[in-house]
Parts: sequence; structure tokens; C-alpha cells
Amino acid sequence: MTEKNVSHTKWMKRAIFLACLGKNTTSPNPSVGAVILDKTGKLISEGFHYKAGMPHAEAMAFNNLEKDAKGGSMYVNLEPCCHQGKTPPCVDKVISSGIRKVYISIQDPDKRVSGKGIKLLKEAGIQVHLGLCRKESLDLNKAFIHRNISKKAFGVLKWAMSIDGRIGLKNGKSKWITNEESRSLVHSFRAEFDAIIIGGNTLRKDNPILTTRGLKTPEPLRVVFTKSLDLPSKSNLWDCNNAKTIVIYDSSTANESYLTRIPKCVEVEKVSSDNPELISKILARRGCNKVLWECGPRLATAAIQSNCIQEIITFIAPKILGGENSMNPLGDFEFEEMHEIIKLSDSQVNLIGNDICVKSSFKN
Ligand SMILES: NC(=O)c1ccc[n+]([C@@H]2O[C@H](COP(=O)([O-])OP(=O)(O)OC[C@H]3O[C@@H](n4cnc5c(N)ncnc54)[C@H](OP(=O)(O)O)[C@@H]3O)[C@@H](O)[C@H]2O)c1
Repeated sequence: MTEKNVSHTKWMKRAIFLACLGKNTTSPNPSVGAVILDKTGKLISEGFHYKAGMPHAEAMAFNNLEKDAKGGSMYVNLEPCCHQGKTPPCVDKVISSGIRKVYISIQDPDKRVSGKGIKLLKEAGIQVHLGLCRKESLDLNKAFIHRNISKKAFGVLKWAMSIDGRIGLKNGKSKWITNEESRSLVHSFRAEFDAIIIGGNTLRKDNPILTTRGLKTPEPLRVVFTKSLDLPSKSNLWDCNNAKTIVIYDSSTANESYLTRIPKCVEVEKVSSDNPELISKILARRGCNKVLWECGPRLATAAIQSNCIQEIITFIAPKILGGENSMNPLGDFEFEEMHEIIKLSDSQVNLIGNDICVKSSFKN
């Protein structure tokens, strides 16, 4: 790599670092950072996008400018927007600033922008370089990209299990398999998500709270998917003071007379079947880029089968539950041959005290 390339990579890495400052707060928008250098190559401003409705990274960088950007360059990890959204188009600002070179890591998958922002910059006589730190930028905004392309939320399935692969005893008891450190890690980890999904049975059995315990404001949306609507009239999820809850039910099977058990502060929406894809699409339409499935085996299996899951996070505790009828994390996929089984990739392993946390991706 030449000295020049090293320096371009350095500035793009800085833009990505800035983008990460808004990592958990920008949905439905992407995480973006921008750096502006003057014509001599000196850093004169930077910015990042923090929240939808607030300035985009490029706009914040222009607002923070210490001196004229004329003849300078910009590094930004996503193609600048060219449409009027909640804020004005960034491309216009770049063009009117007199900047001569723009380094863009990846194209915006949003159809309103994709390629059009770059075209406008080029038409204005600006040199555009696409592809610097592409892999890092794709990874940073993988959930945003997935939602834009598939119209479904990027799904992560999480479960906690014993070393013999059990998530609970046959009577449904499962508190607690993992250690305190792993459990508090889950609270902070939830802050990365826009919504957390469980099935009706997990609500009935565990009565979970499903919050970050105040680490994120607003808390992720809590989602209950039910076929029966047979939910209790008392539940931690019905307390809407700290977090919102939505119950989504399959109207082809639910007994709607049970709706009276759900308090007014909880949103209710019906769907036409029990296909988890419907949940993923509803949440994507509501602007959720990334959602966490914290459900039990039956809904988890259906979610995998309907391609709603892109990553799996498993916490494994050095404990043995044993027993043929203890609960497995997943149900039967009816595989007959080993070549049919699901193979995951890109595994990362971490030790959390005595527990092991494994994160793997689906090859979509
Ligand atoms: N260790 C762990 O990490 C962990 C995590 C989560 C849960 N659990 C345990 O798992 C047990 C519950 O397991 P579960 O499998 O019944 O989980 P679940 O999360 O309650 O999912 C199943 C429920 O989801 C609803 N549902 C909607 N669409 C569905 C579909 N297409 N397929 C299947 N269900 C659908 C139904 O609710 P309705 O019955 O209301 O119609 C169904 O009973 C609990 O004992 C809990 O403690 C353990």
C-alpha cells in the first residue's frame, strides 16, 4: 500500500469510528461518519449522525467547519443522500462547499439514493472514489442494508443453554442457566436492537421484562407474537412506563375475546398467519433495522425456517441439565441427510466468566 493509500484508509477509518458513535441510535437510518480535510490535507472538520431527524454526518461536519473547505476532500462511509428527507440533501452541501474529492466507502442501498448521490457529485465535477474500507462499512451497516434490500428486519436469535445443550427443564424452569455476568451482558447487548421478540409461551412461563435496564432510551420495542392470544392479564410487559410493548397475533387462530386482558397502553396488531416473516416485515416498516429474537424453541425454529434470522448468539454455561425431555434450543427441521443441515459461519467466541458466548452468522 502506498503512503497516499495509507492516509486515505486512515481518514476513512476515522469516519467509520465517528459513525460508530451513533451505532445504536440511528434506526431507521444508517450509522454514518464524515471527515473534511482542507486542500493541504489538514483535518478541518468531522461529524456523525446520531439520530433520525438530527443532522446527517456530512451536515454536522459542515456545521463544525473551522475554515473554508474549498479544494478540500471528504471521507464518508456511506454515499451522501440526494433526497429531501427529514433533513436537506447532503449532496447539495458537498457541491456548494467547493470540495474537490469525495471518498465514499459504500453505495447507499436506499433506492432513493443508490448511485444517484455519486452521479450528482460526479456531474458537478467532483472526483469520487468508491470502495475504501468497504468490508468494515458493510459490516457496520449490515442491518440497515439488510432491511433496505429484503424489507425485513435483520434478525439475531439468542438463547442461553447448558453444556449439554438444554435451555430449560422439562417443567419449563430455566432460571438461571447462565451466570450473572452473562445476564447483565445481555441487558447491554439489547441496546443494539430496535425490538425484542418473544412468543406467547415465553411470556406465560417466564414473565420477562426484556429491557436494557435503562441503558438505552427509548428502550427497544417489546414484541409478543401469539397464535392463541391466550395471554395473562398481569405481565411485566404490560407495564409501559419504561418500554413500549406490541402484541401481534395471528387472526386466523386467535380468540379475540382475550384482547380485553391486554391494557390500553399496549399496541395490538393482527396478521393473517403465524409466519414469523410477517413480524419481521412489520418491524422493518416501523423502521427497525435490527431485532433480537429471545424466543423459545418453537418460535425460534419457525423464525429460522422463514429466513428471519441472520445471526445466532448462544451463551453456554458449564452446567448439566440432562434428561431426554429437557428443552432444546430448537425444534425439528426434519433433516434426513447431513448435507441438509444448517451450517453457520464467521464464529466469534468469548469467555464470560465461566460461560462461553458464541456468535455465528447464517450464510444468506
Ligand atoms: N434459555 C433460553 O434462552 C430461553 C429463551 C426463551 C425461552 N425459553 C424457554 O422456552 C419455553 C417456551 O418455548 P416456546 O417454544 O413455547 O417459545 P415461545 O417463545 O413462547 O414461542 C412459541 C409461542 O409463540 C407463538 N407463535 C406464534 N407464531 C408461531 C409459530 N409460527 N410457531 C411457533 N409458535 C408461534 C405461540 O404463542 P401462543 O401460545 O400464545 O399462541 C407459541 O406458543 C419457556 O419455558 C422458556 O422458559 C428459554
